Amino acid sequence: MGLKTLVSKLSGASRKNKAEKDHSAHVMQGVNPYWRKLTAGEIAGGEHRTFVGGEWEQIGKLQFEFLKAEGLEPHHNLVDVACGALRGGLHFVRYLESGRYHGLDINASLIEAARGELESAGLAHKDARLMVNDKFELSRFETSFDYGISVSLFTHLYMNHIVRCLAGMRKVMTQESRFYVTYFEAPEPVHLEPITHEPGGYVTTYDANPFHCAFDEMQSLARQTGLEARQIGDWGHPRNQKMICLERP
Ligand SMILES: C[S@@+](CC[C@H](N)C(=O)[O-])C[C@H]1O[C@@H](n2cnc3c(N)ncnc32)[C@H](O)[C@@H]1O
Repeated sequence: MGLKTLVSKLSGASRKNKAEKDHSAHVMQGVNPYWRKLTAGEIAGGEHRTFVGGEWEQIGKLQFEFLKAEGLEPHHNLVDVACGALRGGLHFVRYLESGRYHGLDINASLIEAARGELESAGLAHKDARLMVNDKFELSRFETSFDYGISVSLFTHLYMNHIVRCLAGMRKVMTQESRFYVTYFEAPEPVHLEPITHEPGGYVTTYDANPFHCAFDEMQSLARQTGLEARQIGDWGHPRNQKMICLERP
């Protein structure tokens, strides 16, 4: 193959990769704000910490302390689904053995910000495995997980996306795995009126971001994907998101 052909082939491949990456977050356009890529300047200014919901220290530590209380140990394999810029991830990476933390997110700019956070925290050597993916293809990590966590993801997704996430997660769960997810709770299924959650005064709706749903709806989605949901409820979240544990029955 001539040099010209090779160069043109390579730049074609890189255009395709870029197109795939650019496309990926746009899947969420009209669903939630996470299709928007932060600029390098915004990341340098720490904007990613606000973009993922703020309360960086508090909600980061909360996730970590919660999973530790649920039995997470340094040798466990953990996946953080919709890891964002590692608000919780930094704590997990510090605690876990090298190569045990896995994070997936749809937004490439947040994964860039996550790499910067790891560097600044002196954790670059801990081999955190980060992936940009728009289909919850968790099997691409090529491992199974003892623990999974997803904080403030289902609060930003339609139910069909939640099903895709659960289906992707089930493939990488064993009989012992536990997947913890947060959601804004509605008092009963098909709750079509907005709900104001206290503390914080956050307003959620049935069919637009940010979303609420009932535990029974979560249970039904879980069962459709071969999982079983257990209500944990209050776990100290400052805006009253509730926690559910999902397991293979
Ligand atoms: C509120 S932030 C929470 C991030 C992180 N869990 C934390 O606690 O900081 C929501 C995250 O969900 C990610 N997200 C939204 N839609 C997604 C999708 N369809 N697939 C994967 N990640 C998604 C966003 O990019 C963002 O990082």
